Amino acid sequence: MMKRQLQRLRPDTHGITTAATFLRAGGLVSFPTETVYGLGANACDDAAVARIYEAKGRPSFNPLIAHLGSRDAAEKLCRFNQDAKALAAAFWPGALTLVLPLKNGAKVSKLVTAGLETLAVRMPDHPVATALLSAFDGPIAAPSANPSGRVSPTTADHVVAGLGDRIDAVIDGGPCKVGVESTIVSCVDKPALLRAGGIPVEALEACLGQSLQRPGDPSVPVSPGQLASHYAPKGKMRLNARHAEADEVMLGFGPVEGDLNLSRSGDLIEAAANLFACLHRLDEMQASAIAVSPIPDTGLGRAINDRLRRAAAPRD
Ligand code: TXA
Ligand code: MG
Repeated sequence: MMKRQLQRLRPDTHGITTAATFLRAGGLVSFPTETVYGLGANACDDAAVARIYEAKGRPSFNPLIAHLGSRDAAEKLCRFNQDAKALAAAFWPGALTLVLPLKNGAKVSKLVTAGLETLAVRMPDHPVATALLSAFDGPIAAPSANPSGRVSPTTADHVVAGLGDRIDAVIDGGPCKVGVESTIVSCVDKPALLRAGGIPVEALEACLGQSLQRPGDPSVPVSPGQLASHYAPKGKMRLNARHAEADEVMLGFGPVEGDLNLSRSGDLIEAAANLFACLHRLDEMQASAIAVSPIPDTGLGRAINDRLRRAAAPRD
């Protein structure tokens, strides 16, 4: 991983402009929200989003939240049903993330949605986040700005201690007011609670006039497209393959050539950036058997291998 010289930015016009410039160049910028500090990247730039996973050392690709400066900006990317409209009207800007169907043609990186057809969107309620979103003028993908497995940061010092040498900049906006992550509600189907957080469930239920479904409720059908946060191609996958059998489509990496290649130069950031697009492409090719070249199990390779193993595991 490249060592970076961190810039600690003030939450003034100069700091915000500098941060937006880093984002446009594919860099990583941590910024304050009312909940916790986020680790932001341009949500439309595959390689920039791959760097988020690299910096956090996440052993897997969880989908990320796209942060937006307005409801209109969110409506360009997602379909809002009546419940989603009511919740956004009542709680945005604020500590509520909505998981919604992605619109066709929305240019968000597939690494943000982890290949799913839904997108998590949130409009943060913090002047620095708002100023950054308006200066950058596009969706910012941001998980909490902590190394994987550590607690979420609520001050710029926490961010520097955890990720200081892995990111380009942090905007110091003081301590976060809420201190816990946003509440996540899926409005793909019946409204369902995916994660408890900064906005109490009671307030959401009062707004909707109905109770939220919870994961694990016997009444909630656990259908893959709905709540599951994983995407896998339909074909049967064979990992660590150096050659394809006659009936297989080959997904290559580095010198192992294939019908598709995650990264010819063997660059793991490029491979991560291409991963979900390649998996979707395999479905488009109607590949029923897929051979996947070995991927080194270091850095981002660990997350790539985790996803490939899940995709290759026996399914019902
Ligand atoms: O308060 C917050 O939400 C903070 C600040 C920075 O905004 N962000 C945050 O992000 O907590 P993160 O990456 O730590 O958590 C995002 C959660 C994950 O649990 C992920 O599985 C879920 O959101 N998520 C994202 N997209 C999803 C989707 N399409 N379907 C289901 N779950 C999704
Ligand atoms: Mg987190």
